[in-house]
Amino acid sequence: MARLYGNKEDLEYDKVKSFFDNRYNKGLEDDLQIGIYENKESAKKRNQEQGKLMLETIDFTDKKVLEIGCGGGRFVEFIHDKCSAYLGIDYTESHIESANKNYHFDNCKFQVMSAVDILIDELLVKPPFDVVLISQVLLFINDDDLTELMYVINEITNEDKQIFITETTAHDSRLTLKDFYSDNLEDDYNAIYRTKKEFLNFFNKLKCNKVDTYDMFMDMNTHEDSHVISYVLR
Ligand SMILES: C[S@@+](CC[C@H](N)C(=O)[O-])C[C@H]1O[C@@H](n2cnc3c(N)ncnc32)[C@H](O)[C@@H]1O
Repeated sequence: MARLYGNKEDLEYDKVKSFFDNRYNKGLEDDLQIGIYENKESAKKRNQEQGKLMLETIDFTDKKVLEIGCGGGRFVEFIHDKCSAYLGIDYTESHIESANKNYHFDNCKFQVMSAVDILIDELLVKPPFDVVLISQVLLFINDDDLTELMYVINEITNEDKQIFITETTAHDSRLTLKDFYSDNLEDDYNAIYRTKKEFLNFFNKLKCNKVDTYDMFMDMNTHEDSHVISYVLR
């Protein structure tokens, strides 16, 4: 169990994946609607704040949307009546099952697929996409794969794409948690908390002209060394 500051340590993906599978097995599947936050009330508030910002900053009208790491698919509630098509991919089978069980919108599809191995020809909604959404997923992806993901996003999006990314962001120094037991989550947790500067270096590769950043959930933040930021690129 370790908290590693500064070092570029890779995560072991099988451990990250089993964390998500275990959550479902523990009967926490309802929480998938709202992420993995500490309690349902604050999760609901975060969901509303995030959804509101997403709708204020991204034009979904008749757009084709790809969400990477969609979890239980909660974002479709906000956008299903605006976008022309939505595809949510996630590598955790049980999350995709849950999304399919809960949301039945004709223009929204969910698919099991890894963000580090996007099989472009197999996507259930064909590229190019106009909008890409990512929320609390990049912290589970190692640097090399994250660079590759930026290139794949470029390959499957239009030139005038809009991208909405929400990630917990470290204040001063990158922090990698390895087999770190979290009381809140009641399991070992593996994740990389990157700084804003690091994220912006990755997002530079996305061929967007502009990035706006929004500090999120500040009244609910219990961490001294990190907070959540939404990055809106276009
Ligand atoms: C913290 S949850 C967030 C879920 C959803 N985006 C939300 O905000 O409610 C992280 C999600 O990322 C998914 N995930 C993590 N690594 C992934 C990868 N390499 N490929 C696809 N999905 C991944 C997990 O299965 C999980 O559903």
